[in-house]
Amino acid sequence: MVVKVFKDKASLGEFLAERVKELIEKKPDAVLGLATGSSPLATYAALARLYKQGLDFSKVTTFNLDEYVDCRIEKETYRYFMDENLFNKINVKKKRTHFPSPETVGEYDEDIEKAGGIDLQILGIGVNGHIAFNEPGTSFDSKTHITDLTESTREANKRFFNGDISLVPYQAVTMGLGTIMKARKIYLIANTEEKTKAIRSLLNEEASVKLPASVLISHPDVTILLTEEVNPVF
Ligand code: GLP
Repeated sequence: MVVKVFKDKASLGEFLAERVKELIEKKPDAVLGLATGSSPLATYAALARLYKQGLDFSKVTTFNLDEYVDCRIEKETYRYFMDENLFNKINVKKKRTHFPSPETVGEYDEDIEKAGGIDLQILGIGVNGHIAFNEPGTSFDSKTHITDLTESTREANKRFFNGDISLVPYQAVTMGLGTIMKARKIYLIANTEEKTKAIRSLLNEEASVKLPASVLISHPDVTILLTEEVNPVF
């Protein structure tokens, strides 16, 4: 794993957006794996700027990592998040943007394969080390599946639901850890101080299902993107 440290979220986002640009210029029909949450926001803003400067997303296909099940607030669905923060700001074709759902859960991995596999996967990381919604204990070879959210994840995400944990869904559909590991290139973003503990474990400990992100240790092409406040040194 390669680690890069940036002075702030904006410069990290610029860096990653440039890597996406390089990929799309080389391969206009690239397949991107996308994440929600606050971590990739600066990257998406930078991609919207690159689109205005001429980057063409019209042949790009996207697969999002996860989606809530039975989300009662439409504005908090991950589809809505992606439309607002990226898809409505670039010229990606909506029919080429994919999200897992209870109806398609069994076909999502196959759909990714049929599209040619993910060229570049963007990941955030949960405070408890989860990636997508693969909570601690998830098998490293898991495929896209429905999962129960842990109390700590529901607690962390209630900020998006007017601070009311009762509105946070109990389940989500998520790419599995095995699904994510098939991506050819992976960038994991951690850009807030609260992620330090998970990042230290990832960089200093052996792989364990207790820390879902540690599955990445055996991937051949992972880059961890940190801001200075996430200090990985003990
Ligand atoms: C959520 C998402 C993850 C995301 C993580 C971190 O629960 N399912 O895909 O990476 O939490 O979110 P944030 O970037 O807002 O800290």
